[in-house]
Amino acid sequence: MRREDIEAILAEIGELKCKSQKEVEEARVRFLGKKGEVTRLFEEFRTVAPELKREFGKTLNELKQTVTAKIEELRAAAGEGGAAEGPKEDLSMPGEPFELGSRHPVSIVREEIVGIFRKFGYDVAEGPEIEDDYHVFEALNFPPNHPARDMQDTFFVSTGHLNPLLLRTHTSSVQVRAMEKMDLPIRVVCPGRVFRNEAISARAHCIFHQIEGLYIDENVTFADLKQAILLFAREMFGPDTEIRMRPSFFPFTEPSAEVDVSCNICHGKGCNICKGTGWLEIMGCGMVDPNVLKASGIDPEKYSGFAFGMGLERIAMLKWRVNDLRHYFENDLRFLREFQTATEV
Ligand code: DAH
Repeated sequence: MRREDIEAILAEIGELKCKSQKEVEEARVRFLGKKGEVTRLFEEFRTVAPELKREFGKTLNELKQTVTAKIEELRAAAGEGGAAEGPKEDLSMPGEPFELGSRHPVSIVREEIVGIFRKFGYDVAEGPEIEDDYHVFEALNFPPNHPARDMQDTFFVSTGHLNPLLLRTHTSSVQVRAMEKMDLPIRVVCPGRVFRNEAISARAHCIFHQIEGLYIDENVTFADLKQAILLFAREMFGPDTEIRMRPSFFPFTEPSAEVDVSCNICHGKGCNICKGTGWLEIMGCGMVDPNVLKASGIDPEKYSGFAFGMGLERIAMLKWRVNDLRHYFENDLRFLREFQTATEV
């Protein structure tokens, strides 16, 4: 390595002019590239006699700094016109869109059910989630201390007085509010969230959703109830769906029934979803008990009505065969994304 070599490069670089980014890039490769002149000097440095290393090392480093600074200066001066440089991104490209969310399966089912009943002429009503004992139990014919209250384990918000506040255990409370507020005849569905003090498992949760239905008019009969449920079931589960009603008990209806729909997976042959019976339970229903009408100021001699209530998670489970209730509340994106196409339908 000779001092003149270094000085020659310094002289040349001092004079260097570039008209475009392309020329700057060529200059950079020529001096600083892998086989560039400066790079080559660094390789030769290995052969420099030990006593000269210190001096040459310093000069070489200064050379590299000078060349690098000069190239940067030329790059800035050459503007944006060159092919080799310019912004790397295509600024005219459209931005990345936000990922669209999808509807929650419980919302999809709720909207579908509400849509069906709207077609039948029902209104939609909502009531408070924090309710009082009167609307959740008493007005629905659960007498104080009656064991029927144990059917639903309740979260109490305040206790110790006659009408304690609690988290509603069913949407039947909205029936009562509808009867208090609305003019007759009443045709209403009431979707909402309900709460029960239950241990969380695949089959039970402390939060879930129900939809309540209520129809009150003169001369409403059990035949009307049966027809309404049949029409609903066929809209919801397909035109071949059959229903059956089994006698049951609820304090607020008399008579009461539980409704099953024919299993649309095995069509009655028996499968593991319907546990071999060919039927799937979907709701409770019945004729509104005269005591319930009376409690809300409706004359049971003149008016009669039916009511029904179903669990939305249960319907969603039947629709999509989700086998664990907890999925509905954990907001795992892998689960929620499964419903993206269901939302678009
Ligand atoms: N409230 C009941 C429950 O939570 C469901 C129900 C049954 C509602 C019968 C009704 C009905 O309106 O008539 O289990």
